[in-house]
Amino acid sequence: MKGVGNSVGFDIVLPGLFLFILTGCRVVDRGCLKKFREWFDRYADGFYGDDEFVNANLRLKHEHSFRTCEEISYLCGELGLDEGRRLIAETIALFHDIGRFEQFVKYRTYVDPRSVDHSALGVDVLGRTKILGGLEAEERRWIEEAVAYHGRKELPNGLDGESVFFARLIRDADKLDIYRVVVENYEQYKSNPAEFLYEIELPDEPGYSAEVAEAVLNEESTDYRKLRTLHDIMLLQLGWVYDVNFVATLKRIRQRKFLETIAGWLPQSEQIEAVREKVLAYVDFRIEQEG
Ligand SMILES: [Fe+2]
Repeated sequence: MKGVGNSVGFDIVLPGLFLFILTGCRVVDRGCLKKFREWFDRYADGFYGDDEFVNANLRLKHEHSFRTCEEISYLCGELGLDEGRRLIAETIALFHDIGRFEQFVKYRTYVDPRSVDHSALGVDVLGRTKILGGLEAEERRWIEEAVAYHGRKELPNGLDGESVFFARLIRDADKLDIYRVVVENYEQYKSNPAEFLYEIELPDEPGYSAEVAEAVLNEESTDYRKLRTLHDIMLLQLGWVYDVNFVATLKRIRQRKFLETIAGWLPQSEQIEAVREKVLAYVDFRIEQEG
């Protein structure tokens, strides 16, 4: 499979029959999940090539997919889910960013508005590769809908209860690992900007947009098009806490001090201090409310 992802047309459609034999499961069980993981690894490996910038960014999402599985597994444990739902959740986490590989190789960016909706592309890849082909229709639908909606601003109306539940779960697990990536990468970038290999989505300039900070203070969502600098992205990420669905996620965010770390990188001002206090107070309030 090495290198196939770089070929024109991204023809990574393995014969359906072969995949059915490979996975051979009607419902996701432990053995099936193991096969999905092995398949996913090979699928992702197929996109690496000679360009180190592309490779580094692919590795980021490759690793993120497996780390998101760990986060979702933690959440499933905290929520006391049964084995069946846990395995579906892990499958969703494994595949949620499967569209990222084609996206980066083709467009050299992970910014959807500048390239393609990576969630929709992910569902397309799942369909083309037929990796979920053996599964019962319902399980397959829960997985595909969670992948399709994991990056949306809001979930669409009309989903069934189980689809909503899995979509909420992946949105939380995804955020948990993206916070880790943001913190790790920014530390790396600061210590050695010349050798930083990852994509920087917006310029790292001093200052920030007061309008974006104001939106976070008011618990409002911000349109991506309003973001101008890296600091604006960080502000947006601080505001993600309002979209967190489960208190177990907030506990982990608090425990790992993601918010304090990100807020510490922003320019000092009264408004930024107010944002910092606001998001921390919000998280604490929700944790206390449940406790
Ligand atoms: Fe994603």
